[in-house]
Amino acid sequence: MGRKLTPKGQGAIPDTRKVLYPIHEGKQMDFMTSPAEEILYGGAAGGGKSFALRAMAVSYCLEHPGATAVLFRRTYRELEDTHIKLIRTEVPSYIAEYTSHHDLVFKNGSVLMFRFCEQESDVYAYDTFEADIMLFDELTAFTSFQYSYLITRCRSTKPWWPGRRIRSATNPGNTGHNWVKERFIDYLKPMEIKRAPENEGGLLRQFIPAKLQDNPTLMKIDPTYENVLKGLPYEEYRAKALGDWEIFSGQFFRRWRKEVHVIPPFQIPPDWQRYIGVDYGIHAPHAVYWAARPPDTNHIFLYREQYGADIPAREQARMAAQKVKAFGEKIEMVIVDPSMAAKSRDQDGNLQRSLLDIWKEEFAGIADVIKGNNERIQGAALFREVLDWQGIETSSGITVYVPPRLHVMEGLTNFIRTVPALMGNKLNVEDVDTNGEDHAYDAVRYLLRYLFAAPVQPKAMRYYDTVDGIVSAVQ
Ligand SMILES: Nc1ncnc2c1ncn2[C@@H]1O[C@H](COP(=O)(O)OP(=O)(O)O)[C@@H](O)[C@H]1O
Ligand SMILES: [Mg+2]
Repeated sequence: MGRKLTPKGQGAIPDTRKVLYPIHEGKQMDFMTSPAEEILYGGAAGGGKSFALRAMAVSYCLEHPGATAVLFRRTYRELEDTHIKLIRTEVPSYIAEYTSHHDLVFKNGSVLMFRFCEQESDVYAYDTFEADIMLFDELTAFTSFQYSYLITRCRSTKPWWPGRRIRSATNPGNTGHNWVKERFIDYLKPMEIKRAPENEGGLLRQFIPAKLQDNPTLMKIDPTYENVLKGLPYEEYRAKALGDWEIFSGQFFRRWRKEVHVIPPFQIPPDWQRYIGVDYGIHAPHAVYWAARPPDTNHIFLYREQYGADIPAREQARMAAQKVKAFGEKIEMVIVDPSMAAKSRDQDGNLQRSLLDIWKEEFAGIADVIKGNNERIQGAALFREVLDWQGIETSSGITVYVPPRLHVMEGLTNFIRTVPALMGNKLNVEDVDTNGEDHAYDAVRYLLRYLFAAPVQPKAMRYYDTVDGIVSAVQ
């Protein structure tokens, strides 16, 4: 379709806001009419944020013939499944038509573009781009880099331009939670309009909190929605139903409770299977954890730790092997940090033994040693899953209905000290901040991934290592 359009001008569609987008009084109206340049409408899911974004974009296009508006989501599929699908039913074709170029072309010459920005580098595709108004949905899915780069393209030389309008909506959570929280929630009181620091663009900024109760339409059509959200884990519920931004900050394992996870030591029954997880370190501590699994359960009991810095590599393995021998234990598998399989070359160009080789040598005749899985996000999610429990917590104590799957014996002081102290990664809230003391966490994470997410039995598996282009099979 071409763009030969007859601009009809302002007022051609009477009272468009009421007809196409009957926005609610209160927060949606505040969002639509605020004079701030950069706004985040953030909080509870179902609060009417995405609806308000579309209302804003369409009203703007209708009120300013010839306007260029752009609505971003991180991926195209998300745009298509949400905004594009809905806007085509909301805006009749005598007002605007959707083209195969992902544009909604208005009869008055305005255009609303639906765009995405999946990779960090996708921002460069917008280098020659200009938009009068820019909207982002699910802002916490974007990186801070993408957002700050893209908003520089919100500019105009049109004489009627009312000034910069950057409008975002989001739920808390997701990978960008922390930067969005710092930029809007921590920087401003709710509803306050304040100038941003120079190095962040210096725009007039505002945060409009969204609550479920702000959306009477949803409350009326689906009164059970809030209860559905109550089925989520408590932290998710607070974020999604109440729009609570605090819950995601700080501690990564918020479900950790010493009273629930730490148990008195006991003799491990002989039919329980035993495993060892290892994280390597020389100047940073190395960490070795022994775990026992009751037969036919998905529970795991950590019963011994070896932890310390400045211990030579071979000594770390020898100490662990000696403990196994001293207690006459049968170990099913030793799972080590996968980076320990890396081999370097000595001065003569000969491949040196890897740390994995050293562990294999020390554990020869005792147990097999394999590389662990280091997919960080999945590992962190699994870790959270095994620490999760259900029960009631009051000031007088905790009543547990469903116990966690990971149990830690008293005396594993380094695990008990470091794992609860881990923080979320600022750039990705689904991961642990690697600047923390994460050695116990890493060692146990390799163990957990092996036990609960191993796709194939390890004996049948072959691992291939590439060293300087040489491929060698490592059993
Ligand atoms: N002003 C409104 N009038 C009618 N329906 C609305 C209004 N605001 C939101 N809704 C509807 O409520 C539901 C949730 O709104 P949505 O914008 O998707 O919420 P959020 O993006 O905050 O999760 C959607 O079905 C949406 O169409
Ligand atoms: Mg939404």
